Amino acid sequence: MKKLQDKIISDGKVLSESVLKVDSFLNHQIDPPLMQAIGEEFASRFKEDGITKILTLESSGIAPAMMTGLVLGVPAVFARKRKSLTLVDHMYTASVHSFTKNETNDISVSKDFLKKEDVVLVMDDFLANGQAALGLLDIVEQAGAKLAGIGIVIEKGFQPGGKLLRERGIRIETLANISSLENGNVSFYEEAKI
Ligand code: G4P
Ligand code: NA
Ligand code: NA
Repeated sequence: MKKLQDKIISDGKVLSESVLKVDSFLNHQIDPPLMQAIGEEFASRFKEDGITKILTLESSGIAPAMMTGLVLGVPAVFARKRKSLTLVDHMYTASVHSFTKNETNDISVSKDFLKKEDVVLVMDDFLANGQAALGLLDIVEQAGAKLAGIGIVIEKGFQPGGKLLRERGIRIETLANISSLENGNVSFYEEAKI
């Protein structure tokens, strides 16, 4: 997606060879017109798939998930990271290890909002090691719902998550796939034309 690649080049900050900071439009301040364009792009890629629900993870997955849900006309549910002290038996839970942060968190979704009849589009802002996506897939499986695919705003294709998930036969749609952050520069696998 050209608009997103251009935004990453102009406003993203390369913090190291593995970390891209996008606080000015995705992870802290949010750029609504860009999120709208992102929602339209995901909706067009998944419009034939009979999606009934979008599932993401708080907090940075919420904005793109909500815009995609708006265009597709379906609800967006976000898994919570904090442990809910009550009604644990009414939640699907999975544990997600972050290699970046070196911590493991439980994520949870109420059984009220994900049913076996659902066709789910899993979304996240970043795909790095794929652990967050695996946790969300675990929850979809626990619900007995059908997975349509995964929508990722920014993939770091030089990290192992994308390969891990694609090897399982899962469809992944990525709007900007970064091949390298070396020497302070962002490179993409493909320069988008539109
Ligand atoms: P993984 O899920 O792919 O295994 O990712 P990892 O554990 O490495 O990432 C942990 C957190 O860091 C996630 O956000 C993820 O979106 C984010 N992240 C990973 N790589 C980058 C990067 O290069 N740049 C930025 N800006 N974020 C990255 P989170 O902890 O879930 O936080 P939130 O922002 O969703 O609240
Ligand atoms: Na995230
Ligand atoms: Na994040």
